[in-house]
Amino acid sequence: MSSHPRRLGWAIVGCGWVARDYVAPAIQAADNASLVALCDPDAEMLMRISGNEALRYTALAEALAHPGVDAVYIATPNHLHPAITEACAAAGKHVLCEKPMAITPEGGERMVEACRRAGVHYATAFDQRHHAIHRRLRTLVQEGMLGTITQARIHYACWLPRDWAPHNWRVDPRQAGGGAMIDLAPHGLDLLEVLLQDEWSSLTALLQRRVHDYPVDDGAVLMGQFRSGILGILQVAYNCPDAYPRRTLELIGTKARALAYKSMGQTPGGTLTLTDAVTGEETPVPLSPAEDRSPFLHQIEAFSACVLEGRPQPFSPDRDIRLLRLLAQATPPLQDGTPCR
Ligand SMILES: NC(=O)c1ccc[n+]([C@@H]2O[C@H](COP(=O)([O-])OP(=O)(O)OC[C@H]3O[C@@H](n4cnc5c(N)ncnc54)[C@H](O)[C@@H]3O)[C@@H](O)[C@H]2O)c1
Repeated sequence: MSSHPRRLGWAIVGCGWVARDYVAPAIQAADNASLVALCDPDAEMLMRISGNEALRYTALAEALAHPGVDAVYIATPNHLHPAITEACAAAGKHVLCEKPMAITPEGGERMVEACRRAGVHYATAFDQRHHAIHRRLRTLVQEGMLGTITQARIHYACWLPRDWAPHNWRVDPRQAGGGAMIDLAPHGLDLLEVLLQDEWSSLTALLQRRVHDYPVDDGAVLMGQFRSGILGILQVAYNCPDAYPRRTLELIGTKARALAYKSMGQTPGGTLTLTDAVTGEETPVPLSPAEDRSPFLHQIEAFSACVLEGRPQPFSPDRDIRLLRLLAQATPPLQDGTPCR
């Protein structure tokens, strides 16, 4: 039985890939949420998404006028996040917005200011911190099972050609804000802070456009340090064949090394293995099916619970702006001299 007095009413704005495959199913499965509205100016996308009884709108203002909408999940191309957040806040709706929060720190500041002024909740949808393996890993780190952590490494990559989608806004710098780096690195930047309970104190990056013929980076390596002294490396790419192992997260400690494989991404599952520092023995960390649900489902339930129970979201939006600033200041020009932002 639900422990919540009622369900939070959600609208999804932007009904493409992530909304259709992950967000709408999560809202419909959550025990404290209901999907009441869907909005997309593209009528075909609006019809392709499953939404049970949800009303469908091509105009944002009409969706926001629906009295059952308490919160909005924004899943549009990146450059639209600030204006849509401002419209939601002005209509008194709480906002959970896809990463990257915005394509510039100024855009992120506008979003947070609008939500503060309106007194509504804001959070960035960093779904990977809700993955069951990452939640378990956070507990193992907290319990000291890895000893003193020295280094962290993430490889999160895919193959993304120019014709990956009919309207491939990801390769348009005006809509995406960049390429592989701005698309894929925000997950790792957020996730390592959450796992290590630490803050990046520095970040530097190298970009490449090695394989694809579009005007944004198709690969990046980011390297930085945390306040504790831990070193972190993120390797992200649009030029990595999907058949390769390309979703790994590794934390190296003095007592054990943790390797999460295939947990970075939108789906549950993957494996978590600990390697003992003395014997080299590898021990799989089992997860129960009850724990290992969609990270999007955990995320919707967690955001909804905070709103319904009148609790603040666990992370301040100022932190999300800090991460956006860190990413922006670390973004160099592309290797051939073309600025990618
Ligand atoms: N967390 C994750 O793992 C993850 C995965 C994929 C995408 N994303 C993020 O989600 C967002 C959407 O990505 P996607 O892959 O679903 O893109 P997509 O192109 O598949 O879908 C975007 C949708 O937004 C719609 N749209 C365009 N302008 C709009 C407007 N003004 N109002 C409402 N809808 C509008 C488009 O018609 C399209 O249906 C991006 O910010 C992306 O970075 C996150």
